[in-house]
Amino acid sequence: MAKFFWGAATSSHQVEGGNINNWSEWEARTAEKRALKHAKTPSHTFLKKWPPHILKSFPNPLRSENYLSGRACDHYNHYKEDFDIAKKLGHNAHRFSIEWSRIEPEEGKFNQKEIDHYKEVVRALRQHKLEPFITLWHWTLPSWLSKKGGVLAECAIHRFERYAEKMVKELGGNVRLWITINEPDIYSLQSYLRGKWPPEKQNIISFCRSRQRLAAIHSAAYRKIKNIQPEAQVGAALNLVFFESGGGVINNILTFLADKFWNYWDLESVKNASDFIGLNYYFHNRIDYGINKNANKEISDIGWEIYPEGIYRVLKNLKKYNLPVYVTESGLADARDAHRANFIKNHLYWVKRAVNEGVDVRGYFYWSLLDNFEWDKGFWPRFGLVEVDYKTMARKIRPSALEYKKIIDQWEY
Ligand code: FCB
Repeated sequence: MAKFFWGAATSSHQVEGGNINNWSEWEARTAEKRALKHAKTPSHTFLKKWPPHILKSFPNPLRSENYLSGRACDHYNHYKEDFDIAKKLGHNAHRFSIEWSRIEPEEGKFNQKEIDHYKEVVRALRQHKLEPFITLWHWTLPSWLSKKGGVLAECAIHRFERYAEKMVKELGGNVRLWITINEPDIYSLQSYLRGKWPPEKQNIISFCRSRQRLAAIHSAAYRKIKNIQPEAQVGAALNLVFFESGGGVINNILTFLADKFWNYWDLESVKNASDFIGLNYYFHNRIDYGINKNANKEISDIGWEIYPEGIYRVLKNLKKYNLPVYVTESGLADARDAHRANFIKNHLYWVKRAVNEGVDVRGYFYWSLLDNFEWDKGFWPRFGLVEVDYKTMARKIRPSALEYKKIIDQWEY
Protein backbone atom coordinates (compact mmCIF):
# COMPACT_ATOMS: atom_id res chain seq x y z
CA MET A 1 0.00 0.00 0.00
CA ALA A 2 1.44 3.33 -1.04
CA LYS A 3 2.04 5.82 1.71
CA PHE A 4 -0.81 8.29 2.31
CA PHE A 5 0.24 11.92 2.32
CA TRP A 6 -1.40 14.28 4.78
CA GLY A 7 -0.90 17.96 4.83
CA ALA A 8 -2.02 21.41 3.80
CA ALA A 9 -1.37 23.59 0.78
CA THR A 10 -0.28 27.17 0.19
CA SER A 11 0.78 29.21 -2.83
CA SER A 12 3.65 31.65 -3.10
CA HIS A 13 1.74 34.82 -3.84
CA GLN A 14 -0.83 34.15 -1.15
CA VAL A 15 1.58 33.58 1.72
CA GLU A 16 5.13 34.72 1.00
CA GLY A 17 4.89 38.48 0.92
CA GLY A 18 7.09 40.86 -1.04
CA ASN A 19 6.28 39.49 -4.48
CA ILE A 20 6.54 41.69 -7.54
CA ASN A 21 4.59 40.19 -10.42
CA ASN A 22 1.58 40.79 -12.65
CA TRP A 23 -0.78 40.38 -9.67
CA SER A 24 0.96 42.82 -7.36
CA GLU A 25 0.91 45.34 -10.21
CA TRP A 26 -2.79 44.73 -10.77
CA GLU A 27 -3.48 45.03 -7.04
CA ALA A 28 -1.73 48.40 -6.91
CA ARG A 29 -3.82 49.65 -9.83
CA THR A 30 -7.18 48.37 -8.61
CA ALA A 31 -7.16 48.08 -4.78
CA GLU A 32 -8.69 51.45 -4.09
CA LYS A 33 -11.34 51.04 -6.74
CA ARG A 34 -12.31 47.63 -5.40
CA ALA A 35 -12.49 48.83 -1.77
CA LEU A 36 -14.61 51.79 -2.82
CA LYS A 37 -16.90 49.61 -4.81
CA HIS A 38 -17.71 47.64 -1.68
CA ALA A 39 -17.93 50.73 0.50
CA LYS A 40 -20.41 52.37 -1.83
CA THR A 41 -22.63 49.38 -2.07
CA PRO A 42 -23.30 48.32 1.51
CA SER A 43 -26.12 46.15 0.31
CA HIS A 44 -23.61 44.02 -1.57
CA THR A 45 -24.49 40.41 -0.83
CA PHE A 46 -21.11 39.57 0.65
CA LEU A 47 -21.35 42.40 3.12
CA LYS A 48 -24.55 41.05 4.56
CA LYS A 49 -22.86 37.75 5.21
CA TRP A 50 -19.69 39.12 6.74
CA PRO A 51 -19.59 38.43 10.46
CA PRO A 52 -19.20 41.73 12.38
CA HIS A 53 -15.86 40.75 13.86
CA ILE A 54 -14.43 40.40 10.35
CA LEU A 55 -15.50 43.92 9.54
CA LYS A 56 -13.66 45.11 12.63
CA SER A 57 -10.58 42.99 12.10
CA PHE A 58 -7.50 43.87 10.07
CA PRO A 59 -7.44 44.27 7.16
CA ASN A 60 -10.95 45.58 6.77
CA PRO A 61 -12.48 44.56 3.44
CA LEU A 62 -13.77 48.08 2.94
CA ARG A 63 -10.25 49.49 2.86
CA SER A 64 -7.75 49.26 0.06
CA GLU A 65 -5.03 47.59 2.18
CA ASN A 66 -7.21 44.47 2.19
CA TYR A 67 -6.61 44.15 -1.55
CA LEU A 68 -2.82 44.56 -1.51
CA SER A 69 -0.89 41.32 -0.97
CA GLY A 70 2.05 43.28 0.51
CA ARG A 71 3.69 41.24 3.26
CA ALA A 72 0.98 38.55 3.01
CA CYS A 73 1.80 36.12 5.88
CA ASP A 74 5.52 36.79 5.60
CA HIS A 75 5.92 33.07 5.07
CA TYR A 76 9.07 33.87 3.10
CA ASN A 77 10.70 34.57 6.46
CA HIS A 78 8.52 32.42 8.71
CA TYR A 79 8.58 29.15 6.79
CA LYS A 80 10.52 27.23 9.42
CA GLU A 81 8.09 28.23 12.12
CA ASP A 82 5.21 27.29 9.81
CA PHE A 83 6.67 23.86 9.11
CA ASP A 84 7.15 23.33 12.86
CA ILE A 85 3.43 23.90 13.18
CA ALA A 86 2.57 21.55 10.30
CA LYS A 87 4.69 18.85 11.89
CA LYS A 88 2.98 19.39 15.23
CA LEU A 89 -0.34 19.00 13.47
CA GLY A 90 0.56 15.50 12.32
CA HIS A 91 1.27 16.34 8.67
CA ASN A 92 3.76 14.27 6.69
CA ALA A 93 3.66 16.35 3.48
CA HIS A 94 3.30 19.95 2.38
CA ARG A 95 2.19 21.49 -0.91
CA PHE A 96 3.58 24.91 -1.83
CA SER A 97 4.41 26.83 -4.98
CA ILE A 98 7.49 28.45 -6.38
CA GLU A 99 7.20 32.06 -7.39
CA TRP A 100 8.34 32.26 -10.99
CA SER A 101 8.79 36.03 -10.78
CA ARG A 102 11.41 35.58 -8.04
CA ILE A 103 13.31 32.94 -9.99
CA GLU A 104 13.29 34.77 -13.32
CA PRO A 105 12.62 38.45 -12.59
CA GLU A 106 14.01 39.40 -16.00
CA GLU A 107 13.52 37.26 -19.04
CA GLY A 108 16.25 34.63 -19.25
CA LYS A 109 18.03 35.81 -16.07
CA PHE A 110 17.73 33.42 -13.18
CA ASN A 111 18.21 34.66 -9.65
CA GLN A 112 20.42 32.20 -7.80
CA LYS A 113 19.70 33.77 -4.42
CA GLU A 114 16.01 33.01 -4.80
CA ILE A 115 16.71 29.50 -6.07
CA ASP A 116 18.80 28.97 -2.96
CA HIS A 117 15.91 30.21 -0.86
CA TYR A 118 13.66 27.46 -2.21
CA LYS A 119 16.46 24.94 -1.69
CA GLU A 120 16.42 25.97 1.95
CA VAL A 121 12.64 25.63 2.04
CA VAL A 122 12.87 22.08 0.67
CA ARG A 123 15.65 21.25 3.10
CA ALA A 124 13.54 22.52 5.99
CA LEU A 125 10.64 20.35 4.81
CA ARG A 126 12.88 17.31 4.66
CA GLN A 127 14.22 18.06 8.13
CA HIS A 128 10.63 18.12 9.36
CA LYS A 129 9.90 14.88 7.51
CA LEU A 130 7.36 16.65 5.34
CA GLU A 131 7.27 15.41 1.74
CA PRO A 132 7.46 18.41 -0.60
CA PHE A 133 4.78 18.72 -3.29
CA ILE A 134 5.90 21.58 -5.48
CA THR A 135 3.57 23.57 -7.71
CA LEU A 136 5.52 25.33 -10.43
CA TRP A 137 2.80 27.76 -11.41
CA HIS A 138 0.01 28.98 -9.17
CA TRP A 139 -1.37 31.82 -11.32
CA THR A 140 1.15 34.61 -10.92
CA LEU A 141 3.41 35.62 -13.80
CA PRO A 142 6.67 37.53 -14.04
CA SER A 143 5.85 41.04 -15.26
CA TRP A 144 7.92 40.60 -18.44
CA LEU A 145 5.77 37.65 -19.53
CA SER A 146 2.56 39.38 -18.64
CA LYS A 147 3.61 42.35 -20.82
CA LYS A 148 4.11 39.96 -23.71
CA GLY A 149 0.58 38.57 -23.35
CA GLY A 150 0.82 36.21 -20.37
CA VAL A 151 -0.12 32.60 -20.96
CA LEU A 152 -1.39 33.51 -24.42
CA ALA A 153 2.00 34.86 -25.54
CA GLU A 154 3.59 32.78 -28.28
CA CYS A 155 6.68 32.21 -26.16
CA ALA A 156 4.81 31.11 -23.02
CA ILE A 157 5.28 27.36 -23.53
CA HIS A 158 8.97 27.58 -24.14
CA ARG A 159 9.58 30.04 -21.29
CA PHE A 160 7.70 27.87 -18.85
CA GLU A 161 9.55 24.78 -20.00
CA ARG A 162 12.86 26.55 -19.44
CA TYR A 163 11.83 27.67 -15.95
CA ALA A 164 10.57 24.15 -15.09
CA GLU A 165 13.82 22.66 -16.33
CA LYS A 166 15.82 25.01 -14.17
CA MET A 167 13.83 24.22 -11.05
CA VAL A 168 13.92 20.48 -11.55
CA LYS A 169 17.67 20.54 -12.12
CA GLU A 170 18.17 22.62 -9.00
CA LEU A 171 15.69 20.91 -6.68
CA GLY A 172 15.09 17.51 -8.23
CA GLY A 173 17.55 15.74 -5.95
CA ASN A 174 15.27 16.44 -3.01
CA VAL A 175 11.84 16.61 -4.64
CA ARG A 176 9.91 13.85 -6.32
CA LEU A 177 6.37 15.22 -6.68
CA TRP A 178 5.72 18.06 -9.07
CA ILE A 179 2.51 19.85 -9.91
CA THR A 180 3.06 21.77 -13.12
CA ILE A 181 0.08 24.14 -13.07
CA ASN A 182 -2.77 24.95 -10.71
CA GLU A 183 -6.38 25.12 -11.91
CA PRO A 184 -6.09 26.11 -15.56
CA ASP A 185 -9.91 26.03 -15.57
CA ILE A 186 -10.59 28.60 -12.84
CA TYR A 187 -7.69 30.79 -13.93
CA SER A 188 -8.96 30.95 -17.52
CA LEU A 189 -12.51 31.58 -16.36
CA GLN A 190 -11.68 34.44 -14.02
CA SER A 191 -8.96 36.05 -16.10
CA TYR A 192 -10.31 35.61 -19.63
CA LEU A 193 -14.07 35.11 -19.42
CA ARG A 194 -15.38 36.84 -16.33
CA GLY A 195 -12.75 39.59 -16.41
CA LYS A 196 -12.31 39.52 -12.63
CA TRP A 197 -8.58 38.84 -12.46
CA PRO A 198 -5.69 40.20 -14.46
CA PRO A 199 -5.67 40.69 -17.43
CA GLU A 200 -9.46 41.26 -16.98
CA LYS A 201 -10.54 39.94 -20.36
CA GLN A 202 -14.10 38.95 -21.18
CA ASN A 203 -13.75 36.95 -24.30
CA ILE A 204 -14.85 33.39 -24.89
CA ILE A 205 -12.19 32.78 -27.52
CA SER A 206 -9.41 33.92 -25.20
CA PHE A 207 -10.91 31.75 -22.47
CA CYS A 208 -10.73 28.68 -24.70
CA ARG A 209 -7.26 29.56 -25.91
CA SER A 210 -6.05 30.01 -22.36
CA ARG A 211 -7.30 26.56 -21.36
CA GLN A 212 -5.74 25.00 -24.42
CA ARG A 213 -2.50 26.83 -23.89
CA LEU A 214 -2.25 25.84 -20.25
CA ALA A 215 -2.81 22.19 -21.13
CA ALA A 216 -0.02 22.48 -23.69
CA ILE A 217 2.22 24.14 -21.11
CA HIS A 218 1.51 21.28 -18.74
CA SER A 219 2.33 18.60 -21.31
CA ALA A 220 5.54 20.29 -22.43
CA ALA A 221 6.68 20.70 -18.82
CA TYR A 222 5.73 17.10 -18.07
CA ARG A 223 8.00 15.80 -20.81
CA LYS A 224 10.83 18.10 -19.81
CA ILE A 225 10.67 17.08 -16.15
CA LYS A 226 10.52 13.37 -16.92
CA ASN A 227 13.55 13.68 -19.20
CA ILE A 228 15.61 15.20 -16.45
CA GLN A 229 14.19 13.18 -13.57
CA PRO A 230 12.58 9.97 -14.82
CA GLU A 231 11.52 8.90 -11.33
CA ALA A 232 9.60 12.17 -10.77
CA GLN A 233 5.83 12.01 -10.38
CA VAL A 234 4.22 14.83 -12.31
CA GLY A 235 0.63 16.02 -12.60
CA ALA A 236 -1.62 19.08 -12.82
CA ALA A 237 -4.07 20.28 -10.15
CA LEU A 238 -7.55 20.67 -11.62
CA ASN A 239 -10.62 22.26 -10.08
CA LEU A 240 -13.18 19.56 -10.74
CA VAL A 241 -16.85 20.12 -10.03
CA PHE A 242 -19.57 17.68 -9.08
CA PHE A 243 -22.38 18.44 -11.52
CA GLU A 244 -25.64 16.97 -10.29
CA SER A 245 -28.66 16.62 -12.51
CA GLY A 246 -32.00 17.82 -11.16
CA GLY A 247 -33.55 14.87 -13.04
CA GLY A 248 -35.27 14.42 -16.39
CA VAL A 249 -33.87 14.24 -19.89
CA ILE A 250 -33.09 17.90 -20.34
CA ASN A 251 -31.24 18.25 -17.05
CA ASN A 252 -29.36 15.04 -17.72
CA ILE A 253 -28.20 16.36 -21.07
CA LEU A 254 -27.20 19.72 -19.60
CA THR A 255 -25.30 17.96 -16.81
CA PHE A 256 -23.51 15.75 -19.30
CA LEU A 257 -22.47 18.81 -21.32
CA ALA A 258 -21.34 20.78 -18.27
CA ASP A 259 -19.25 17.83 -17.15
CA LYS A 260 -17.69 17.54 -20.60
CA PHE A 261 -17.00 21.21 -20.91
CA TRP A 262 -15.69 21.85 -17.41
CA ASN A 263 -14.20 18.58 -16.10
CA TYR A 264 -13.34 16.43 -19.09
CA TRP A 265 -11.83 19.14 -21.24
CA ASP A 266 -8.79 19.44 -18.98
CA LEU A 267 -8.73 15.81 -17.86
CA GLU A 268 -8.66 14.60 -21.44
CA SER A 269 -6.04 17.16 -22.43
CA VAL A 270 -3.60 16.21 -19.68
CA LYS A 271 -4.26 12.51 -19.14
CA ASN A 272 -1.48 11.27 -21.42
CA ALA A 273 1.07 13.45 -19.71
CA SER A 274 0.25 12.73 -16.08
CA ASP A 275 1.53 10.38 -13.44
CA PHE A 276 -1.31 11.41 -11.15
CA ILE A 277 -4.35 13.64 -11.04
CA GLY A 278 -4.38 16.56 -8.62
CA LEU A 279 -7.92 17.26 -7.50
CA ASN A 280 -8.93 20.62 -6.03
CA TYR A 281 -12.49 20.06 -4.87
CA TYR A 282 -14.61 23.02 -3.81
CA PHE A 283 -17.78 23.03 -5.87
CA HIS A 284 -21.04 21.20 -6.38
CA ASN A 285 -23.32 22.51 -9.11
CA ARG A 286 -26.90 21.30 -9.33
CA ILE A 287 -28.34 21.66 -12.78
CA ASP A 288 -32.07 22.14 -12.81
CA TYR A 289 -33.10 24.08 -15.90
CA GLY A 290 -30.17 26.36 -15.11
CA ILE A 291 -26.88 26.14 -13.28
CA ASN A 292 -26.11 26.51 -9.57
CA LYS A 293 -29.55 25.51 -8.36
CA ASN A 294 -27.98 24.33 -5.13
CA ALA A 295 -29.83 24.03 -1.84
CA ASN A 296 -26.93 25.82 -0.07
CA LYS A 297 -27.88 24.32 3.27
CA GLU A 298 -24.50 25.25 4.66
CA ILE A 299 -22.21 27.91 3.26
CA SER A 300 -18.79 29.27 4.12
CA ASP A 301 -17.98 32.91 4.95
CA ILE A 302 -17.63 33.68 1.24
CA GLY A 303 -20.89 32.04 0.30
CA TRP A 304 -19.51 28.79 -1.14
CA GLU A 305 -21.72 25.80 -0.48
CA ILE A 306 -20.33 23.06 1.78
CA TYR A 307 -21.08 19.78 0.01
CA PRO A 308 -18.75 16.96 1.11
CA GLU A 309 -20.43 14.17 -0.84
CA GLY A 310 -19.36 15.86 -4.05
CA ILE A 311 -15.73 14.89 -3.47
CA TYR A 312 -16.79 11.25 -3.56
CA ARG A 313 -18.73 11.72 -6.79
CA VAL A 314 -15.80 13.42 -8.46
CA LEU A 315 -13.34 10.80 -7.22
CA LYS A 316 -15.53 8.00 -8.53
CA ASN A 317 -15.55 9.65 -11.96
CA LEU A 318 -11.75 9.72 -11.91
CA LYS A 319 -11.45 5.98 -11.44
CA LYS A 320 -11.55 5.31 -15.17
CA TYR A 321 -8.26 7.16 -15.66
CA ASN A 322 -6.44 4.54 -13.64
CA LEU A 323 -4.09 7.08 -12.16
CA PRO A 324 -3.29 7.83 -8.54
CA VAL A 325 -5.16 10.87 -7.22
CA TYR A 326 -4.00 13.44 -4.71
CA VAL A 327 -6.58 15.78 -3.26
CA THR A 328 -4.37 18.81 -3.71
CA GLU A 329 -6.92 21.26 -2.22
CA SER A 330 -10.08 21.10 -0.14
CA GLY A 331 -11.01 23.79 2.34
CA LEU A 332 -13.26 26.63 3.38
CA ALA A 333 -13.26 30.22 4.62
CA ASP A 334 -14.45 30.08 8.22
CA ALA A 335 -13.19 32.87 10.46
CA ARG A 336 -15.00 31.53 13.52
CA ASP A 337 -13.76 27.98 12.94
CA ALA A 338 -17.37 26.92 13.37
CA HIS A 339 -17.58 24.49 10.45
CA ARG A 340 -14.00 23.54 9.66
CA ALA A 341 -13.65 20.43 11.85
CA ASN A 342 -16.84 18.94 10.45
CA PHE A 343 -15.92 20.01 6.95
CA ILE A 344 -12.67 18.05 7.13
CA LYS A 345 -14.24 15.08 8.86
CA ASN A 346 -17.05 14.81 6.34
CA HIS A 347 -14.86 15.28 3.29
CA LEU A 348 -12.53 12.58 4.56
CA TYR A 349 -15.44 10.28 5.24
CA TRP A 350 -16.31 10.51 1.54
CA VAL A 351 -12.68 10.21 0.46
CA LYS A 352 -12.41 7.01 2.44
CA ARG A 353 -15.53 5.68 0.85
CA ALA A 354 -14.05 6.30 -2.59
CA VAL A 355 -10.83 4.57 -1.49
CA ASN A 356 -12.84 1.58 -0.26
CA GLU A 357 -14.51 1.45 -3.65
CA GLY A 358 -11.20 1.25 -5.44
CA VAL A 359 -10.19 4.84 -6.21
CA ASP A 360 -6.44 5.16 -5.75
CA VAL A 361 -6.37 8.26 -3.54
CA ARG A 362 -2.92 8.82 -2.08
CA GLY A 363 -3.10 12.11 -0.25
CA TYR A 364 -5.19 14.96 1.11
CA PHE A 365 -4.09 18.57 1.39
CA TYR A 366 -6.31 20.97 3.27
CA TRP A 367 -6.45 24.50 1.85
CA SER A 368 -4.75 26.16 3.58
CA LEU A 369 -2.13 25.79 6.27
CA LEU A 370 -2.39 29.52 7.03
CA ASP A 371 -4.90 32.30 6.62
CA ASN A 372 -3.72 34.09 3.53
CA PHE A 373 -4.31 36.51 0.68
CA GLU A 374 -7.34 35.26 -1.22
CA TRP A 375 -6.76 36.79 -4.67
CA ASP A 376 -9.35 39.42 -5.63
CA LYS A 377 -11.08 39.13 -2.25
CA GLY A 378 -7.95 40.00 -0.33
CA PHE A 379 -7.23 39.07 3.26
CA TRP A 380 -10.61 38.88 4.93
CA PRO A 381 -11.55 35.25 4.04
CA ARG A 382 -9.93 32.99 6.62
CA PHE A 383 -9.05 29.60 5.15
CA GLY A 384 -6.28 28.61 7.57
CA LEU A 385 -5.82 25.70 9.92
CA VAL A 386 -3.71 28.37 11.53
CA GLU A 387 -4.93 31.89 12.19
CA VAL A 388 -2.61 34.73 11.22
CA ASP A 389 -2.58 38.12 12.91
CA TYR A 390 -1.58 40.30 9.98
CA LYS A 391 -0.31 43.09 12.25
CA THR A 392 2.10 41.02 14.32
CA MET A 393 2.40 37.98 12.00
CA ALA A 394 1.68 35.81 15.04
CA ARG A 395 0.35 32.32 14.27
CA LYS A 396 -2.34 30.62 16.32
CA ILE A 397 -3.48 27.04 15.77
CA ARG A 398 -7.25 26.74 15.34
CA PRO A 399 -9.05 23.94 17.22
CA SER A 400 -10.13 22.33 13.93
CA ALA A 401 -6.47 21.75 13.05
CA LEU A 402 -6.23 19.46 16.06
CA GLU A 403 -9.35 17.62 14.96
CA TYR A 404 -7.70 17.10 11.59
CA LYS A 405 -4.68 15.70 13.42
CA LYS A 406 -6.88 13.21 15.25
CA ILE A 407 -8.25 11.94 11.94
CA ILE A 408 -4.72 11.62 10.55
CA ASP A 409 -3.61 9.70 13.63
CA GLN A 410 -6.54 7.30 13.41
CA TRP A 411 -6.78 6.78 9.66
CA GLU A 412 -6.72 3.15 8.58
CA TYR A 413 -7.22 1.44 5.28
C1 FCB B 1 -8.44 27.65 -5.19
C2 FCB B 1 -7.05 28.22 -5.42
C3 FCB B 1 -6.35 28.60 -4.14
C4 FCB B 1 -7.28 29.29 -3.17
C5 FCB B 1 -8.54 28.48 -2.98
C6 FCB B 1 -9.51 29.08 -1.99
O1 FCB B 1 -9.18 27.73 -6.36
O2 FCB B 1 -6.26 27.27 -6.10
O3 FCB B 1 -5.25 29.40 -4.46
O4 FCB B 1 -7.52 30.56 -3.58
O5 FCB B 1 -9.18 28.33 -4.22
